[in-house]
Amino acid sequence: MRAAVCTAALAFCASAVAAEQGGIIPLPASVAPGSGGFEVNSATTIVAAAGDAVKAGRYLAQLWKRSNGLVLRVEAHTPGARGSVIIFRKAPGFGLEAYRLEVAPNQVTISASTAAGLFYGAVSLWQLLPAGIKDGRIPAQTIIDEPRFAWRGLMLDSSRHFQSPAFVRSMIDWMSWHKLNVLHWHLTDDQGWRLQIRRYPRLTTVGGWRIPAGIPGVPAEKPYGGFYTQDQVRDIVAFAATRHVQIVPEIDMPGHAQAAVAAYPALGTATGDRPPKLVVSSKWGVHTHLFNLEPNTFRFLENVLDEVLQLFPSRYIHVGGDEAVKDEWNASPGVQARARELGIANTEALQSYFTQEIGRHLAARGRRLVGWDEILQPGLPSDAVVMSWRGVDGARAAARIGNDTVLAPQPILYFDRRQSSLASEPTGRMEIVTVEDVYRFEPVDPLLSKDQQRHVLGLQGNLWSEHMPNEARVEWMALPRAAALAEVAWSSAPRNWPDFISRLAAMQPRYRAFGVTSADSLFGIDAHIARAGEAIGVTLANLPELTGAGLDTRIRYTLDGREPTTSAASYTEPLTVAAGTSIHAATFLGKEQVSRTWSEHLDAHSAARRSSSELELCSNRVGLLLEPVAREGEFSSDAPIAVDIMNPCWIYRGVDLQQGPGIVAAVAALPFNYELGADAASIQVGDARSPDGELEVRLDRCDGTLLGLLPLAPAANRAGVTQLPAQRLPVQSGRHDVCLKFARPRLDPMWGLEWVEIGG
Ligand code: ACM
Repeated sequence: MRAAVCTAALAFCASAVAAEQGGIIPLPASVAPGSGGFEVNSATTIVAAAGDAVKAGRYLAQLWKRSNGLVLRVEAHTPGARGSVIIFRKAPGFGLEAYRLEVAPNQVTISASTAAGLFYGAVSLWQLLPAGIKDGRIPAQTIIDEPRFAWRGLMLDSSRHFQSPAFVRSMIDWMSWHKLNVLHWHLTDDQGWRLQIRRYPRLTTVGGWRIPAGIPGVPAEKPYGGFYTQDQVRDIVAFAATRHVQIVPEIDMPGHAQAAVAAYPALGTATGDRPPKLVVSSKWGVHTHLFNLEPNTFRFLENVLDEVLQLFPSRYIHVGGDEAVKDEWNASPGVQARARELGIANTEALQSYFTQEIGRHLAARGRRLVGWDEILQPGLPSDAVVMSWRGVDGARAAARIGNDTVLAPQPILYFDRRQSSLASEPTGRMEIVTVEDVYRFEPVDPLLSKDQQRHVLGLQGNLWSEHMPNEARVEWMALPRAAALAEVAWSSAPRNWPDFISRLAAMQPRYRAFGVTSADSLFGIDAHIARAGEAIGVTLANLPELTGAGLDTRIRYTLDGREPTTSAASYTEPLTVAAGTSIHAATFLGKEQVSRTWSEHLDAHSAARRSSSELELCSNRVGLLLEPVAREGEFSSDAPIAVDIMNPCWIYRGVDLQQGPGIVAAVAALPFNYELGADAASIQVGDARSPDGELEVRLDRCDGTLLGLLPLAPAANRAGVTQLPAQRLPVQSGRHDVCLKFARPRLDPMWGLEWVEIGG
C-alpha cells in the first residue's frame, strides 16, 4: 500500500491521521502512515548513546512504566539479540523543538537537534501506545512535528491559594506531556506574597499569611498562607528545565500590592500624613492599594527583582501592571508632588513611568519585561511583551506597534470559569467555558498582517485560584482544557473536535495512572428528575458538545445498584421508575467508560428538590459557585452554592402549587469577602423583618405576591448548610414560577440557597 502523506494543508487526510496516530495530544503537524507495525513489549530496548538522547530515552521508560507497567532497558548500543529497538539520536537540521518519529517494523527512530525535540518525540511515542498495554503494536508511520507557537503556557496563581512545591512539580510534569512549555507563576498579590526574598523577610513572614475570610461570629483558628523558599524555587526551576518548561515569575506592580504594603507600609501610597496600615487581604476583587513612586520604593522593587533574577533564568520576567486603579495616586499629596517633579501631568501616565523604570532595570540585566495589557501606553519599551487579557484587543494593538504579545484573553482562556452546567462542577465562576470553547479558540487575528502576526508569541490559559482552594481543584479546572489549549498552541494541523475527544479519552487513564485529576464534565451526565404521577421520571443526557461530535457515545445505566458496564442497558428515552429505586449511569465511548458513575437514590424528595445550580439565577452579574462553609479553607461535602453575589436570588420554574405544597430549604451563611468598590452600593439587601433575616418565597416574579417567609435564625452563626423548618405554601391554581431570595439585615454574611424542595 502506498502511504499517503498528510500535512496540515491536507484537511481531507484528517480521518486517516486519526486512525493512525493513536492518541497524541497535541496533534502532530504531519503524519504519514506506513505499512505494518512496531511490536513493543518487554523485549524492546531503548537505545540512546549519550546526553540528551539518554535523558529522553529514560523519560520514555519512566512514562511507560507508570502508565503501562511496561519496563524497558535503556542501552547505549543496539543489542545483538532479538527484540525491537527504539533509537533516540541527535541529528542536525531540526528546529528548536522539532522532531521526527519514524515507526517501522522492529525499529522506532526519534531524531531531533535539541534536547527539547528528543523529549517531545518521547512524549509522542508514549502516547502512541494506549495506557495499560504492555505488549502492543504501534502502527508504522512517520511523524514530522514542530510547534506552531513558541509560548504555550499556563498561569498558576499561588497567591490567592497556595499550592505545595510538590504540586507545582507535578503540574510542570503534566504540562510537559501536552508540550506546554511556559509556567507563568503568579507569586504576589493582595492576598499573599509567596516568594522568599532574603533582603526583605517581612514579605513572607507578614505578607505570606492572612486571616481567612469567615462569616461573622465564626472565629479563625489559624492564619492561611505559605511561601516558597528560595531553595524550593531553585529545585522547581531545575525540575522544570528537565521537562523543557520555562518558569516566568510574576511580581505584580504597581497594583495588587496589598500584601507587600502590609509587610512594609512605607512602600504604600499615603493619602494622609502616615503610610497606610494594611493587612494582607482576605477579600477577592480589585483592591485600590498601590506602591508609591518614591525612589526608595523603586530601589526596593529592583532589589526584589534582582533576587528573582537569581532564581529564575527565564528571559521573560512578568511585572503585572493590571487593574492598578489610580484612586490612591490621585488622592495622595506625595504621589502628586512626585508627578510634578517628574513633569507627568496625567496620573494614568505615571504607570507608564513605572513600567519604563522597571523595564530599564530588567533590560540592563538582559531580561524582557512582560506585563498585562494595561502596560500598553505611550513609552512602552519596544522589547516589552504584552499579555492580552481583556480580550484580544491588547494583542492586536501591541502587534501593530511591533511589540511581542501573548494571548490570554478572558473569558475563553480563563480557566477559573466552570466547564459545564452540570451540578458536579466544583467552586468557580458561573460563566461557562467548555473544553470545546478552548479547542475552537482561533489565535490568528485576521486583522493583523503576516508580519504583525509574528509578534504573537503564543497563548496561555490562566488559573486564577480564588475559587480553587485545593490542588485537586486546580487540576480539575486546568484539565482537560489545558489539553485543548495545547492543541491550539502547538498544532498546525486542522482542528478536528471529534478526533480530539477520542484522543482525550485515551489520555484519561494516563492522568489516572499519575494521580492527576481531570474534569469529566465533557462526558458528564445531565440528569433531570421529576414527579411522574406516583412514580419518578428520569431524563438523562450528555452535553451538546459531546453529542454534536457524532461519536459512538452512549449512556448506560442500571436500576439494581450495580456499576454500569458495556453490557448495562443503553439509555434511549426518559425512564419512569418507582420511588425507592437507585439509578447508576455513566457515559461510554465505544468500550471505555469515560465519565465517572453518576448515581441517585430516587424518591419523592429527589423529584421535588432542586439544588441552586439546577435553579435559574435571577441575574448573573457576578455569578459564583461557592463552598458552603463558614470559613474559607474549610471543605464541605455539600455541593457548591450557585449565587450571584450582587443579587442572591433564584427561580424555580413551573412548580405545581395546587395542593398547597410544603417547602423546605437548606441554606448557608457565606462570608461576603468581595472588594467591589462603588458597585457594592448597588447590592439590595432587601427588607429583613428580623435580626437574622428571612428567605422570601414569591409567586411568579421576584416582586410577586409573598407566599412564604422562612426565618434564617436557625442557620445564623452556624457553619455549613442548615435545613430550615418546613412550611406550607398557600394553594394556587396550576403551575407557577417561584422566586426565592434573601432579605438580610447587612451585606455580611451573604446567604446562599443550597437546595429547595417544594411539594416533596
Ligand atoms: C487579570 O485578570 N487581572 C490579569
